[in-house]
Amino acid sequence: MHCQPAFKLLLWTSLTFASLIPHGWGEKCTTNGQAPTVQQTQVGFGRSPKFMVVVNNKCPMCPIIDIHLKCGSFPQALVNPRLLKVLGVDDCVINSGLPLAPLQTFSFNYSHQKYLMYPKIWSFQCE
Ligand SMILES: *[C@@H]1O[C@H](CO)[C@@H](O)[C@H](O)[C@H]1NC(C)=O
Repeated sequence: MHCQPAFKLLLWTSLTFASLIPHGWGEKCTTNGQAPTVQQTQVGFGRSPKFMVVVNNKCPMCPIIDIHLKCGSFPQALVNPRLLKVLGVDDCVINSGLPLAPLQTFSFNYSHQKYLMYPKIWSFQCE
């Protein structure tokens, strides 16, 4: 198979260029588009209902930092502040404000009646 060296070169070339693509290709996310999502699922029932909260960075290109949620009057005592820090009424920060990688999810649980939570503010870290 004397065509193999040429094939290897082609493969090498395409891999090399593919690794360059993420910097100049694809949509960067803006604060108007691709907001993080917050989903709650009830995972415990009965006397002590338990909810699992999953925050998802929907942006395929950029990490997000400093994600604040509208969280009503969520009490800090229900969750480790490193997971969800209550700053005030309707202002909670997840993951100590640290980055969520592109498409990464972040999750925590609490045991209480449901507190509604929505994304409030966040910052995309596009280059
Ligand atoms: C939340 O609860 C669910 C169901 O009990 C469990 O599978 C999951 O691991 C818990 N998540 C965390 C972050 O503790």
